[in-house]
Amino acid sequence: MAGSVTPQLETYYAKRASEYERIYDKAERQDELAWLRGRLPRLFAGRRVLEVACGTGYWTQFIAQRAAHVTACDINEAVLEIAREKPIPKRRATFAKADAFNPGGLCEGCDAAFAGFWWSHVRKSDLARWLASMAKSLPSGSLVAMLDNRYVEGSSTPISRRDAEGNTYQVRSLLSGETHEVLKNFPTAAELAEAVRPHAREAHLEETQYYWLLVFTLK
Ligand SMILES: C[S@@+](CC[C@H](N)C(=O)[O-])C[C@H]1O[C@@H](n2cnc3c(N)ncnc32)[C@H](O)[C@@H]1O
Repeated sequence: MAGSVTPQLETYYAKRASEYERIYDKAERQDELAWLRGRLPRLFAGRRVLEVACGTGYWTQFIAQRAAHVTACDINEAVLEIAREKPIPKRRATFAKADAFNPGGLCEGCDAAFAGFWWSHVRKSDLARWLASMAKSLPSGSLVAMLDNRYVEGSSTPISRRDAEGNTYQVRSLLSGETHEVLKNFPTAAELAEAVRPHAREAHLEETQYYWLLVFTLK
């Protein structure tokens, strides 16, 4: 496996698997989540989508309603087990264990990619490598969408520190009371545009109060 994400991140999400979807219960975010549950399936209608870091398949279940097929992958079996229980017709989605930095043959036949709440966990120094590997694995003209959080005081977990490279971190608690320090970046619109410029044409950023959605077509 590529040593691009900290093992701590993988461990944290393995332990959080059964409580992960509580994040989608936050009352103040419901209107925007409802909008995204409609927006993403429309965006990927008819496409063959590679989804990286799919987690429990929360977004997969909606995208699969309109996509021709979703190949969804994650590094953690614990979340994939939950994803496989989602009420998605078998022909519409498959789930596989794979590193987002190296999805290998999973990209075959895909003409779109989606990553939900993954960009924010990628170290700034690893972003270019991740984006380049994805761009080279998909055909020109593929549609790519990245969804992630904006930092909102009072709703987001506070940032606990910033490292020398500018990555930010949060200290998160699990229901067990166990705490984990998790890398979580909140890129600006300019940083997003700059990062995808080598690979994107027609990049378009949609920002709501709690989320950002970056949509672009691969050169
Ligand atoms: C914030 S969750 C997002 C889950 C899902 N995309 C969603 O939006 O609900 C991040 C996911 O990244 C996964 N992950 C961590 N390191 C990974 C890696 N190197 N490759 C693929 N997935 C990874 C974790 O297991 C976790 O499911």
